[in-house]
Order: sequence, then structure tokens, then C-alpha cells
Amino acid sequence: MVSYKELGLVNTREMFAKAIKGGYAIPAFNFNNMEQLQAIIKASAETKSPVILQVSKGARNYANQTLLRYMAQGAVEYAKELGWEHPQICLHLDHGDSFELCKSCVDFGFSSVMIDASSLPYEENIALTKKVVEYAHKYDVTVEAELGVLAGVEDEVSSAVSHYTKPEEVVDFATRTGCDSLAISIGTSHGAYKFTPEQCTRDPKTGKLVPPPLAFDVLDAIMEQLPGFPIVLHGSSSVPQEYVDMINQYGGKLPDAVGIPEEQLRKAAKSAVCKINIDSDSRLAFTAAVRKVFAEKPGEFDPRKYCGPARDLMEELYKHKIINVLGSNGHAE
Ligand code: G3H
Ligand code: 13P
Ligand code: ZN
Repeated sequence: MVSYKELGLVNTREMFAKAIKGGYAIPAFNFNNMEQLQAIIKASAETKSPVILQVSKGARNYANQTLLRYMAQGAVEYAKELGWEHPQICLHLDHGDSFELCKSCVDFGFSSVMIDASSLPYEENIALTKKVVEYAHKYDVTVEAELGVLAGVEDEVSSAVSHYTKPEEVVDFATRTGCDSLAISIGTSHGAYKFTPEQCTRDPKTGKLVPPPLAFDVLDAIMEQLPGFPIVLHGSSSVPQEYVDMINQYGGKLPDAVGIPEEQLRKAAKSAVCKINIDSDSRLAFTAAVRKVFAEKPGEFDPRKYCGPARDLMEELYKHKIINVLGSNGHAE
């Protein structure tokens, strides 16, 4: 048993309470490799933003859970070395799908876990979430749960249509499970293709796709039911056009990729939405930078020469999110 407290990590309780009060959101960035982690930590340290490092099932398969945890432990020390005196870094399991997995993360030094039982029937979601909460809370590890189903692919759970969270269920769910935060479905989805072209309109000037707005009425109704309760938005990448263009310009093929417009996320961050999950945008930045080097310098074969620019572009992206979208800068001095 390793306590996250010994590793210098923090859970989400205080972070979320402050974020809701302050009208900003905490960035939850997924990481799978060293360059992503370096970029996240540099951006967070420089802006003094609390940050959540997320480890998905895909990340655990790719990079190994043990290695990722030690990397997060190293990240705390790296943050201090960068001059961030009191780093507020949370290590979070993203989309945990079983009690055993959540338990293993709690036992191994994660400070927060998500149990995503949203694809199960309501009562089963409650039972599994409650079991995880009871275990995690013994060690002061916070638990995110999910109610409602996001469109697209949620790890291995595929759902063609989204089922918005039902506001009439949230009080019962939060009370009976004891979860610390709730991921909801209001129109976001995972990946770089969040809406089909048919769901969008076209900007007559640019010809670019304009996605439909998020269901803020559903969010408002949820906040009315659960005043001050921490709400989480998954699938919140914006799919920046500049990265998509760069990828396409340098030999990639991402036709009609579309994300959540930043102004919608800015609006959400000011509400009880206090955790915003971003993964795809970092993948796009990484890929765009690597493709550019490969196209311009076909003789390059030192990975540092293409992973370095990728890291720089991701750092720029993370800073932009922190400062211009979520507003979490300066909240972890
Ligand atoms: O929620 C999905 C995240 O973007 C992680 O995806 O399992 O491919 O790492 P992944
Ligand atoms: P994006 O695919 O929009 O980056 O969402 C990531 C996410 O929700 C991770 O849990
Ligand atoms: Zn997610």
C-alpha cells in the first residue's frame, strides 16, 4: 500500500471546491509518455495551475501502470525543480471499469479514481460506484462517477448516440453513491470527430463546420438539483483547426474533424463544471509537429528532433487551455 500523500500528490476535494467558488475549471490532461508529461508539468508550473494527470486504460496498456505512476511521482519533483514551490498535482485513473482496477490504483498511489459504470443499468452503476467510493474514501482518495452516456467511443464501450444525463436522477445518484464528482453527458464526446457533418452547420464564409451548442439547459438543471456539486466534462477537446490543417498539409488525412468550441468550454468552466478532460488536442498537436519535421527534414532520424518540437507545441497548447479557456492559472501558487 502506497499513500499518494507520501508521493506529494493531492486528491481533488480542495481543488474542486476552490474551482467552483472561483469560477474556473481544473485541466485534466491524459498522458501516455514522457514528452506529454513534461509539457503538462512545464505548462502547469509556469502558470501555477493545479492539474490532474489522467491515466486511461489505453495508457496503461501502452506505457504500463507502474511506470506511469513513477513518472507522476517524478513529475512532482520535476515541478519543484522548475520553481513551483507547492505543486498541486493529482494522479487520476480515467474511465476505470472495475472495482479491482480502482482498488489497485488506490493501493498504488493514485489520489483520485474514476469508476465509469455509466454503460450499466442505473442500479448497477450505483452499486459499483458505491463499492469503489467506500474503499477509496478509507484512504482519502476521491472518486469521480458518471451518469449518462457520451456519444462516440468511450474506451471500449461504443455508443452511437449520446444519452444526456437525466437531471432528475442526479440527487439520488450522488447521495446513494457518495461520489465526489459527477461526469455528465451534455453533448461532448471523445475523439477528434465529435459531430458528424450532418449535425453541424457550415460557416458560409469559411466553409468550415460549426458544431451544435452543448446542452446548457441540462447542465443548469443538474446544477439546480445539486448546488455546488463538482461536475466533470469528458470529451472536451476543441480540435484546433490549425493542428488539423498542419496534419493535412503534411500528409495526414483528417477530413471534417470537429471539436467543442472554446467559448462553450469557457462558459462551462465558469459554472459548477470544475474538471475538463482534454486528450485529443494533445494528440493532434503532437502529430502535427512530428509530421512537419518529417515532411521538412526527411533525413531526420533522431527521435529528440521530432519529439522535441512535439513537446514544445503541446506545452503551448496546455498553457493556452489553462490561461485562455479554463482560467486555472494562478490558483496553485
Ligand atoms: O477517454 C478517452 C481518453 O481520450 C483516453 O483514450 O484509452 O485511447 O488512451 P485511450
Ligand atoms: P477528448 O477526446 O475530447 O480529448 O476527451 C478526453 C477525455 O474525456 C478523457 O477522459
Ligand atoms: Zn473521458
